[in-house]
Amino acid sequence: MIRPEAQQMTSVKQLGYLVFEVSDLAAWEHFGAKILGLAVVDSRGDAGFSLRMDDYQQRFFIDRGPADDLAAIGWEVEGPAELEAFARRFAESGHEVTQGTADQAARRNVEALIRVNDPAGNPNEIFYGPKKTDEPFVSDVVRSGFVAGEQGFGHVVVAAKDQDEHEAFYASMFGLKLSDYIRCEYFGHKIDVTFMHANARHHSLAFGGGQLKRIHHFMVQAKSMDEVGLCYDRFLFSGGMVHQTLGRHPNDKMFSFYGYTPSGFHFEFGSGAIEIGEGWESTTHGKVSEWGHHPPQLLTKAYRRAKESRDEKG
Ligand SMILES: [Fe+2]
Repeated sequence: MIRPEAQQMTSVKQLGYLVFEVSDLAAWEHFGAKILGLAVVDSRGDAGFSLRMDDYQQRFFIDRGPADDLAAIGWEVEGPAELEAFARRFAESGHEVTQGTADQAARRNVEALIRVNDPAGNPNEIFYGPKKTDEPFVSDVVRSGFVAGEQGFGHVVVAAKDQDEHEAFYASMFGLKLSDYIRCEYFGHKIDVTFMHANARHHSLAFGGGQLKRIHHFMVQAKSMDEVGLCYDRFLFSGGMVHQTLGRHPNDKMFSFYGYTPSGFHFEFGSGAIEIGEGWESTTHGKVSEWGHHPPQLLTKAYRRAKESRDEKG
C-alpha cells in the first residue's frame, strides 16, 4: 500500500553517495584523507574502503577494480513507500529497474535500494535509510568541516549522450529541477552543461557531452574559503596535477579549483556557494567562470617565456 503523500512525491531528497572503482587503493586513501580531508572508514582490506565527511556513515565507497571510473550514483529518498513509488514510476515508464538484494543494501549501509541506468548508461542507485553515526566527524586536515547533511555530499558531473533526453529523464523520473545552463567556448572547447538540483544546493547533478569516462568530476564543499587554498597547497605539494586554477563559477558562485584524482578523472574542491530556494529562475550563463578556473598551461607558458628571456640575457 503506497501512502498518498508518497504518490505525490516528485523528487529524490539528496545526492547521498558515490561509488568509485579504482585501481590504486593506496593512492586513493592518501588522496581522500590527506588532500580532500575526508575520514577513511570501514576498511575492507584489498577490496576497498569508505570515506566519511559528516554524520552519514560514509559518502564515498572506494572499491578496487580496473575501471578507474564512477560505479554508481546514490540518491536518497524518504522511506520504503517512496522507494516503491520510484520503482513503479521507472517500470511504468519502460525503464529497466532492478531491486537491490539485502546483501547489496547492507554493503551500502542502507535499508533498501533499487538500481536504474540513465540514458547515457550511468548507473544510479535509489535508497532509503542510510546509516548515520553520532561520532563527531574528524578530519586530518580540514578543520572547518564540510557543507553536506541535507544538501548531500556535493555534486557530480557526468557524461550525457543527448542533453535534452538526459534532462527530461532526471526531471520526470528523479524530480530534479533545472538550475541553469552554461553554454560557451572555453579555450577552443565547446561547453554545454545542464545543472539540476534536488534541494538547497545549487546543483547535485550536472551533465554535458560525451566524455572519456562516465564521470567528469565530483565536488566537495568546505565550510571556509581558506580550506580551498589550504587544499590547493596540499595538492600542489603532494605532486598533484591541477586541471583548473582557483576561480569562481557564475551560477553557484562556488570558489574552487579542479585537480586530477588518482583515477584520472577530476575533483573540485570549493567553498562559498549560494543556496537556492522556491522561486529560483533558471537562466543560461555565457561563461564557465567569473574569474579564474584557467588551465595551468597558461602559467607554464609564462614561466617558459620568463626563462627564455633570462637565458637570452645570459
Ligand atoms: Fe563542479
